[in-house]
Amino acid sequence: MPAIVIVGAQWGDEGKGKATDLLGSRVDYVVKPNGGNNAGHTVVVGGEKFELKLLPAGILSPNATPVIGNGVVVNLEALFHEIDGLEARGEDTSKLRISANAHLVAPYHQTMDKVSERFLGKRAIGTTGRGIGPTYMDKVGRLGIRVQDIFDESILRQKIDGALRQKNELLVKLYNRRAITVDEIAEYFLSYAERLRPMVVDTTILLNDALDEEKVVLMEGGQATYLDVDHGTYPFVTSSNPTAGGASVGSGIGPTRINRSIGIVKAYTTRVGAGPFPTELFDEWGEYLQKTGGEFGVNTGRPRRCGWYDAVMARYATRINGFTDYFLTKLDVLTGIEQIPVCVAYEIDGVRHDEMPMSQTEFHHATPIFEHFPGWTEDISGAKTLEDLPVNAQNYVLALEKMSGTRISGIGVGPGREQTIQRYDLIED
Ligand code: GDP
Ligand code: IMO
Ligand code: MG
Repeated sequence: MPAIVIVGAQWGDEGKGKATDLLGSRVDYVVKPNGGNNAGHTVVVGGEKFELKLLPAGILSPNATPVIGNGVVVNLEALFHEIDGLEARGEDTSKLRISANAHLVAPYHQTMDKVSERFLGKRAIGTTGRGIGPTYMDKVGRLGIRVQDIFDESILRQKIDGALRQKNELLVKLYNRRAITVDEIAEYFLSYAERLRPMVVDTTILLNDALDEEKVVLMEGGQATYLDVDHGTYPFVTSSNPTAGGASVGSGIGPTRINRSIGIVKAYTTRVGAGPFPTELFDEWGEYLQKTGGEFGVNTGRPRRCGWYDAVMARYATRINGFTDYFLTKLDVLTGIEQIPVCVAYEIDGVRHDEMPMSQTEFHHATPIFEHFPGWTEDISGAKTLEDLPVNAQNYVLALEKMSGTRISGIGVGPGREQTIQRYDLIED
């Protein structure tokens, strides 16, 4: 049975949470393969709004087992805060399982995130300040602390000591901060051990056994293609691989078992944080999209930068992720715009580029070449089929489909679970 991966096709906040929630009642496991509490997914169920940061949105689907995969970086304080918040609202979180190999965010990672951003000055990334980059740095640098380490105090202390030897040099000598002790970090982690223990399993066995038993496993990527540390707009990226290949690594599900890769893409484009953005709007249209689309970050409350749809970016995302389907979200936000611009190619130093340029410098110089599509004024928020949409909205969707490299199987016409047009079944077709 299928392993399906959901991937953001732009710079995040495309509506991955809603797409996961939509499929939630039909899947058995929802695994988060990458990222940490830098994500922010808003899910609206029956008019009730939920905001998830570290937990996969699948935690709201009563039949699905939510899993935090090995590729995630876990902030334990944030984890239990989120669990307690959901439990207080009557949501059952008891099925949550966490990989023993996932890395832990330590308080010093958050400190390092903040001070290194400050030191970058004008070149700052605009991170979420959650310590995500420094935690992945320690993972790759083999100085990380993993979930399993907190169940062996002696190993835990040795590892913290190893990490702090380097960290304290930096904190004290470079950043003018106080040194951190092994005791304070060990105490911090150990205080969560008892509560964490029953949730921790070998999630690769859990998930692969589930696939052997014909169960449906959904991988819910955090962040997005253009925030991918390999394929995104480096260095203005996050420190994980939110692309489809990263989902395989971050969950321990082999690539041959993944038979569906669904790109979540907004009908326009947004970005939080710094970095290039060819179709970004600095005029009243930018403000219009921000206001109409409610484009303010869930995680940090920062306003999202807004621009028109970029088909060059979509084609690249289709290629990198091997998308089989797109789920186009927020089409309703474009209602009322007379002519809708879509970026079909870039002009870079006088030359037309139909595909993403190879270098960062070229992408920084890219100016969009727009085609304009006639808009519509009718309320589309109750549409159930493509044919329910005004003809101009249908044509807009079909034009994006043609330009973006794969079929558009679902269309979002409002934040609610039911406000969705399903052209092709995202699990069966
Ligand atoms: P994620 O991080 O990819 O899960 O996306 P976010 O939750 O950060 O941002 C997407 C926002 O758009 C959320 O507030 C959703 O409730 C909302 N949303 C999702 N799909 C649609 C849609 O089709 N129409 C409208 N109007 N809002 C949507
Ligand atoms: P979801 O899952 C949008 C951005 C940050 C910053 C960069 C690096 O909700 O789509 P980090 O804290 O990860 O080191 O920050 O990545 N970023 C996101 N932007 N949506 C997200 O998650 C993001 N997660 C990280 O704004 O530019
Ligand atoms: Mg988000």
